[in-house]
Amino acid sequence: MKQDLFSEIQLGELALSNRIVMAPMTRNRAPNGIPTALMGEYYAQRATAGLIITEGAQISPQGVGYPATPGIYNDEQVSAWQQVIDDIHTAGGAVFVQLWHCGRISHPSFHDGALPVAPSAVQPAGQAVTYAGMQDFVTPRALAIEELANIVEQYRHAAEMAIKAGFDGVEIHSANGYLLDQFLRDGSNRRTDSYGGSIEHRVRLLIEVTTAVCNAIGANKVGVRISPVNAFNDMQDSDPQALFNHVASALSALSPAYLHVVEVTMAGAIDTEVDMAQLRHHFDGRYIANGGYDRARGNSVIATEAADMVAYGVPFLANPDLPNRLKQETKLNTPDQATFYGGDAHGYTDYPFA
Ligand code: PHB
Repeated sequence: MKQDLFSEIQLGELALSNRIVMAPMTRNRAPNGIPTALMGEYYAQRATAGLIITEGAQISPQGVGYPATPGIYNDEQVSAWQQVIDDIHTAGGAVFVQLWHCGRISHPSFHDGALPVAPSAVQPAGQAVTYAGMQDFVTPRALAIEELANIVEQYRHAAEMAIKAGFDGVEIHSANGYLLDQFLRDGSNRRTDSYGGSIEHRVRLLIEVTTAVCNAIGANKVGVRISPVNAFNDMQDSDPQALFNHVASALSALSPAYLHVVEVTMAGAIDTEVDMAQLRHHFDGRYIANGGYDRARGNSVIATEAADMVAYGVPFLANPDLPNRLKQETKLNTPDQATFYGGDAHGYTDYPFA
């Protein structure tokens, strides 16, 4: 029988009730990095997703890049996440937390005046979101090779904290121009040591991080997100097909539960094309497709086995009951851009159910 969005699927140890994933989305409603009861309500409303992937959670103070994003590295954050996860599990949902280090997509005001860190001292075009409004990105400080073991340790520690909090697993954020993606792509990685230059070298940090996280919590609880054509955050690469084919096969050797691919660009024009089917071919685990899917295209990629699951972002933000609406072909609520980032329950937990 042909599968569709509403077919069950096994993901690692989890038996998921459908193939509709809530994509990670930054909502900036965690003052001082501490998750709130309102966040528990928001995610629990969306627990009919086969899988929820939370907004990015910084893995250390160094990883912060935006106001009021949650952290997943200390005990206070873990106990606050426990409440959120309880709400989701009580509502029947499954949830992975996204492990996030922003690297150069940050600002000294988040770091007591110190520079954000990156593979190389390359200033991204654009502006950081800070507590004092939009401010130009700065030229980051290139991480010394001796510091990279500590970056790996930050991810490993955060993954352990995530399991302690009760998450069903973690997603390593290696997409959208944040730290690990900055290492992958040669527009931002100009290193001349064993972490820069060739594709093998640029992929090294991601592989070390994924290995450490898989060893700490079990590979079947780990996913990785990549974005081969996303120009957002001033990202470029000279040969993304070769790079991301290599990423997919090197990750596959570690047997994580899934590869989550942002298949579109969130900003700017792209002059390169990547054939996502090649990535799927290089990766043995589950493939989650993301980027502008509607009901018909979602069902179609699953039926043709181009993907195992489909992640929906903005449609899930505006429709807590998205799986039911897709199934019944109910009209969708209109998302309100003004309430995406920061604020209170308005535009967060008050979108109506059908
Ligand atoms: C954003 O806050 O705009 C944002 C955060 C994380 C992403 C993409 C966009 O992966």
